[in-house]
Amino acid sequence: MDYEERITSAQLGRGEERSEFSIRPKSLAEYVGQKTATDNLKVFIEAAKMRGEPLDHVLFYGPPGLGKTTLAGIIANEMGVDIRITSGPAIERAGDLAAILTNLNENDVLFIDEIHRLNRSVEEVLYSAMEDYALDIIIGKGPSARSIRLDIAKFTLIGATTRAGSLSAPLRDRFGVSCKFEMYTPEELADIIRRTAGLLEVKVDEQSVFEMARRSRGTPRVANRILKRVRDFSQVKGSGAIDIDITKTALEALGVDYMGLENLDREILRNIIDRFDGGPVGIDTIAASIGEERVTIEDVYEPYLIQIGFLNRTKKGRVVSAAAYRHLGLEYTGEDLTGDDDMQLELDV
Ligand SMILES: Nc1ncnc2c1ncn2[C@@H]1O[C@H](COP(=O)(O)OP(=O)(O)OP(=O)(O)O)[C@@H](O)[C@H]1O
Ligand SMILES: [Mg+2]
Repeated sequence: MDYEERITSAQLGRGEERSEFSIRPKSLAEYVGQKTATDNLKVFIEAAKMRGEPLDHVLFYGPPGLGKTTLAGIIANEMGVDIRITSGPAIERAGDLAAILTNLNENDVLFIDEIHRLNRSVEEVLYSAMEDYALDIIIGKGPSARSIRLDIAKFTLIGATTRAGSLSAPLRDRFGVSCKFEMYTPEELADIIRRTAGLLEVKVDEQSVFEMARRSRGTPRVANRILKRVRDFSQVKGSGAIDIDITKTALEALGVDYMGLENLDREILRNIIDRFDGGPVGIDTIAASIGEERVTIEDVYEPYLIQIGFLNRTKKGRVVSAAAYRHLGLEYTGEDLTGDDDMQLELDV
């Protein structure tokens, strides 16, 4: 199955953008979790506002669906400026970026999603824009070509990426602030689910809130999506209010197990167990053996499996943990080196 269509996919599905907009928090006060990032940003925003300057350039990195775009919008709101949203692959030529930059107003936020996918010539334009708020433009061709410097409004660049490691060093160095996004705890996800349920005007009991939170793979986008699907089930098969029976029935029908894993996650784990004796095995080999791209496994599946201690990344390759064997109902024969019981407890709320 296409991973974009999975219920537990952290990535934005087709047609979801509009419905996400209405449930997106608009202020820091409404934004749940990511304490380290938001506490620091609060200070930087306050200071920048006092000086009447733009906020320093900010880099967000971490797995999809954790609220990077949302937080960028909130920063613009809190700064009282406009935000212009674009993405690395959408800016094809240097001229495209120049056009965007020259249209910004003083202190505006420019948000570039998937910033690691900017092409080189575009990236180079960004360097002087970020550092000196200027564009170096080449006019003419051949021997008569000359470069002129064009001033642009002071602005804040917020770059988002799922892979900070793929960013070139010169670009990375030009960000004054960088924030790593962490997966959310079940308690934080429960807050998000309660909030969204309120906005959608659907009643959910506490047990169901936690059941959904626990199965949302640490990801707000997944939590909101699960809530919406469970709501569908409760409307059609139940009373309209969400209770634990309807929640469990719905999640089972959706193929999401009690740890939030679905078929492909289990397939990855089983594959490593059956064909590679539980690992260690290289990521490329895993990708080839299940017919997925390496980056998809690294960015989309692996972070959560690692987070819950089902998969470990070692120098020799990926290793499936004893907890994962137990979860799949298989007998574990290796040594248990992973100490994953704490995580299990934390998730078994
Ligand atoms: N901290 C949060 N509190 C409440 N809701 C949140 C939070 N973070 C994200 N959400 C919700 O989760 C959804 C996904 O968030 P968002 O689009 O910002 O993620 P993202 O990190 O930009 O994902 P991607 O990497 O796919 O661009 C949003 O609709 C938003 O409502
Ligand atoms: Mg986004």
